Amino acid sequence: MDAEHGIDAEHGVARQIEPAEAVHAAELRFLAAYDTGPRPPGWRLTPRAVVLFVCGSQGVVLELPEGSAAPGDASSAAAGSDPVRKMEISGKFVGDRDLIERCVVTLAGERGLMLVGEPGTAKSMLSELLAAAVSGDSTRVVQGTAGTTEDHLRYGWNYALLLAKGPTGEALVPSPVMAAMRGGAVARIEEVTRCLPEVQDALVSILSDRRIAVPELSGSSDGAVYAAPGFTVIATANLRDRGVSEMSAALKRRFNFETIGPIADPDAEVGLVRRQAHSALAKAVTGQAAFGVDDAVLGVLVTAFRDLRSGRSAEGWEIERPSTVMSTAEAVAVATSLALAAAYFPGDRDVLSLVPGHLLGVVRKDDPADADRLLGYWDSAVRRRAQDGARTWQRMWELRDVLKG
Ligand SMILES: Nc1ncnc2c1ncn2[C@@H]1O[C@H](COP(=O)(O)OP(=O)(O)OP(=O)(O)O)[C@@H](O)[C@H]1O
Ligand SMILES: [Mg+2]
Repeated sequence: MDAEHGIDAEHGVARQIEPAEAVHAAELRFLAAYDTGPRPPGWRLTPRAVVLFVCGSQGVVLELPEGSAAPGDASSAAAGSDPVRKMEISGKFVGDRDLIERCVVTLAGERGLMLVGEPGTAKSMLSELLAAAVSGDSTRVVQGTAGTTEDHLRYGWNYALLLAKGPTGEALVPSPVMAAMRGGAVARIEEVTRCLPEVQDALVSILSDRRIAVPELSGSSDGAVYAAPGFTVIATANLRDRGVSEMSAALKRRFNFETIGPIADPDAEVGLVRRQAHSALAKAVTGQAAFGVDDAVLGVLVTAFRDLRSGRSAEGWEIERPSTVMSTAEAVAVATSLALAAAYFPGDRDVLSLVPGHLLGVVRKDDPADADRLLGYWDSAVRRRAQDGARTWQRMWELRDVLKG
């Protein structure tokens, strides 16, 4: 698998998105060789290495201890190149390391982990990274919707086999949760609060009994599927959806909750938006394309997102917040659009002049009154910064008319 270019070597088909364990396969292999300390049952990496994988090595190049075996890398062995003995681990989740440590400790204790937060705060990304690091497989996922049934969490049947042979182990189609139980791995449940209460209750019984009974096969060895050591669940829940408060006490009790907030540090957020927009551009364009969004533009973009998200500017000015969530994920999407515009329409217009239109697009999603709030932001914070002489903000102020459209 050539994960970097999203190509499945076996079938030669490009994929839009690769799972985290494929994208970061080399890092995961390296970390397994780097830290060979004791691991919880079923884990691919030590808890310390999992934290390192998620948070990155912060610019430090890690080196395998003397005399230890290098990670088995079939591609480098085939190419005759030296096995990798040094590696820098890329930063993936930007945020509090303590939070990641708590998440890892929860999983090591085989308790359920519930990640809650506003949309676009990287809950899904974090759950995928943790599952990839702990179990080497982040694809055992159930997407919670109003249409999710108990079967999606438990098991279903291959009806052709069922009709032909009756209920047998062969005809049983395990859910991703059942597959994770058998393999002692992490199962992921996205947007768990969107599931109906009875479906959430099925999860309660799975998490307390650690087994799924299959009454149709009772009396045979397939009559119950037991969780192997290492099995646990990472669920995500969106605070904007109704339902977190309505989750049953029984379900809440089976999870450790961690709240994921927006990125605290402005520079870290700019850095993340730059990195992610860079890689999104590299994926979206065949051949070389220069990244045409300079730091001044990224600075304005991220500042506007942060001001509107928090209702207060870095200078301490009050700002009326739109009802839409101004998430980092949206900021990445806008920066990527700007980069694509610069790559495909070079020289047409300066990239900065596209920012107000994109902001309006983000803000106007929920409530038409949000467009007025954005205009209010222009008439307060943007105007004051322009008056203070900041060049990029002066340009933003000149573009005010775009927002009236
Ligand atoms: N703290 C962060 N660290 C790294 N990336 C982040 C962070 N916050 C936001 N992002 C960006 O947000 C993107 C997607 O977030 P993700 O879909 O995981 O959010 P989510 O919290 O699951 O949102 P939703 O509630 O809408 O499902 C990431 O790919 C990344 O670009
Ligand atoms: Mg999500």
